[in-house]
Amino acid sequence: MNIHYLTLFPEMYQGVLNTSILGRAKEKGIVNYHAVNFRDYSGNKHNKVDDYPYGGGAGMVLKPEPVFNAMEAMDLKSPRVILMCPQGRPFNQKMAEELSEEEDIVFICGHYEGYDERIRTLVTDEVSIGDYVLTGGELASMTMTDAIVRLIPGVLSREESHQEDSFSTGMLEHPHYTRPREYRGMEVPEVLLNGNHALIEQWRREESLKRTRERRPDLLSDQ
Ligand code: 6GU
Repeated sequence: MNIHYLTLFPEMYQGVLNTSILGRAKEKGIVNYHAVNFRDYSGNKHNKVDDYPYGGGAGMVLKPEPVFNAMEAMDLKSPRVILMCPQGRPFNQKMAEELSEEEDIVFICGHYEGYDERIRTLVTDEVSIGDYVLTGGELASMTMTDAIVRLIPGVLSREESHQEDSFSTGMLEHPHYTRPREYRGMEVPEVLLNGNHALIEQWRREESLKRTRERRPDLLSDQ
């Protein structure tokens, strides 16, 4: 998979994409990351990428030329082109699963009041990562990258498997315990110690359901 970021701040990606599982996925050759500074594609000698809005009003608007030029220079066959904006469709696990099967993903990350509306003709999806406003799309695109890349076959080891993740199963995860068996007076539940795997599975299902009912009842009614 190739993941491209159109951004004015390519340096923001360096730490995140080279660390831990995202870095390892690149080392393994499963994914490649390309952070492109679209200021290099402004097409004007002052490298201007934004301008005042027609009709007046506060804030600047991202010009169409830098984004169109950068997209044309990439020359991708059939990419998913994701416009990062708070007005987009809320990102979720199902979207991550779907995107993990793509060959090319482009994230368009603005830092401005708005995108010139014509940029939207290049876009296949408009996505938000939640109901709050970020200063730019970069952190949101890295969040989505993390959720997507870990789902690509071969990225996680068996120990790190995502089959039982919260949201993959439609429920929150059950509680986990490791050694020691007693810590500061807090005991590991007896059922986990006796090696009866049917009982352990039953306990985990019940705890999962209890936790989901308490914390995220919306997940149970969403199906
Ligand atoms: Cl994708 N962009 C920005 N600027 N803010 C956001 C967001 C995206 N998702 C949630 N807030």
